[in-house]
Amino acid sequence: MKITKICCIGAGYVGGPTMAVIAQNCPHIQVTVVDLNTERILAWNDENTDNIPIYEPGLDAIVAEARGRNLFFSTEVDKAIDEAQIIFISVNTPTKTYGKGKGMAADLKYIELCARQIAKVAKDDKIVVEKSTLPVRTAEAIKSILDSTGNGVQFQILSNPEFLAEGTAVQDLLNPDRILIGGDTTEEGQKAIQALVDVYSNWVSPEKILTTNVWSSELSKLTANAFLAQRISSINAMSELCEKTGADVNEVAKAIGMDSRIGSKFLKASVGFGGSCFQKDILNLVYIAKSYGLNEVADYWEQVIIMNDHQKRRFSNNIVKTLYNTVADKKIAFLGWAFKKDTNDTRESAAIYVANDLINEHANIAVYDPKVSRKKILSDLDYLETRSSEENAGSIITFDNPYLSCENAHAIAVLTEWDEFVHYDWQKIYDKMQKPAFVFDGRNILNKAELENIGFVYQAIGS
Ligand code: NAD
Ligand code: UDX
Repeated sequence: MKITKICCIGAGYVGGPTMAVIAQNCPHIQVTVVDLNTERILAWNDENTDNIPIYEPGLDAIVAEARGRNLFFSTEVDKAIDEAQIIFISVNTPTKTYGKGKGMAADLKYIELCARQIAKVAKDDKIVVEKSTLPVRTAEAIKSILDSTGNGVQFQILSNPEFLAEGTAVQDLLNPDRILIGGDTTEEGQKAIQALVDVYSNWVSPEKILTTNVWSSELSKLTANAFLAQRISSINAMSELCEKTGADVNEVAKAIGMDSRIGSKFLKASVGFGGSCFQKDILNLVYIAKSYGLNEVADYWEQVIIMNDHQKRRFSNNIVKTLYNTVADKKIAFLGWAFKKDTNDTRESAAIYVANDLINEHANIAVYDPKVSRKKILSDLDYLETRSSEENAGSIITFDNPYLSCENAHAIAVLTEWDEFVHYDWQKIYDKMQKPAFVFDGRNILNKAELENIGFVYQAIGS
């Protein structure tokens, strides 16, 4: 089948960058990204690509190249579905906040709405691709909804999970470690797989394109995220032991990472992992395991989350303890709010939980983040429903200038590893702070010797 039109439902952190890269590398394919969120689509269509809704290094240039040529952003969902041969579903699948599985299971209501809309609109055969991260066996439910119309339209469901990491999305999409495509073992299923393989083959070499059955593909995505997060919780667990014993977690990570069986990546101790994926996907995995009665499997993976929560709480407790057991009415400056550098995404960022703990202790939090707005910071805190919006707004001051945010502060907490933090004039910052001046480096990025020479009391994670 020759693919000339693709549609993607969901213009978020995955749908936007993924489709931009497909459009850039497949000029012969028309790619339309649709979303119900009009504001988001307007931002994607903003003439000035600095204003596209997602900050990712290099993305603005790709959008500028392909948009209007063969890349389109639109709110006309039905039209895009009707015209496309391949439909990617890339909508959000957050943790359920209500009902059965609340706090654990993935909320599939947006996925189901997409399936119903495709079923309603489609007049000819379609390949439907699960791009969102989904519980294993979701394709079965999607198929049953799609086939329920009885109008003779044939659907093939493929699983094609996305492995990009935010902050490096463009590079990850251009040079993926692998592309995973799961499909039916029938002849039609294999044809659908081949059609999608052909799309990726425009820029990805064949040995990196892996095809499997649907269930393996769906489960591989949850497994990959669980393994990655497990490494962080493992090194963070050791960081606490390092602090008690005089070992240095950076040295331990380097020493074990040189073992080629372990590898050096994803061994950076931190204030705790954040982001929209790790926690959500592990909770979902735990829920799935429990639903099959696999309690030991569920408990094993749940520990990754328990450790991560402990690491965030430990960081805020340590700030309070070190500041003479009270932070009431003290200004604590936060450098960074995003869950990692080079993104404006704040979902599940450790900063939110650390701020929440410190506000409970009546601290005043001064935040500087190069890419995150005050509006976003306040909505993140309001989402926790710990206190009223007015109280949150009264406890948070935000700054566009890092030096001003640190002025008169009793302590600085580094919550995100933005490169610029390393290069600040730390003497200038020290001079304007309350003394003793404390730095709590939740990312182990600052130079301990330099800061201690200036006069800071410096504390890192795991040393
Ligand atoms: P997102 O919230 O940024 O984007 C999802 C978009 O879908 C939103 O703009 C929303 O308005 C839209 N949407 C929801 N229902 C819709 C409907 N019925 N019709 C049209 N639009 C609809 O989410 P995201 O971060 O892009 O994640 C999407 C999926 O990809 C999730 O399943 C996630 O787990 C997975 N994923 C995310 C990442 C990541 O780094 N963010 C990486 C890999 C996989
Ligand atoms: C993750 C997966 O890496 C990606 O493959 C998947 O598609 C989506 O989920 P993402 O959440 O965007 O990507 O970023 P990632 O680089 O994995 O970082 C997640 C969190 O872990 C961040 O808060 C980061 O700061 C933290 N982290 C990462 C550490 O604390 N230590 C590390 O060594 C690595």
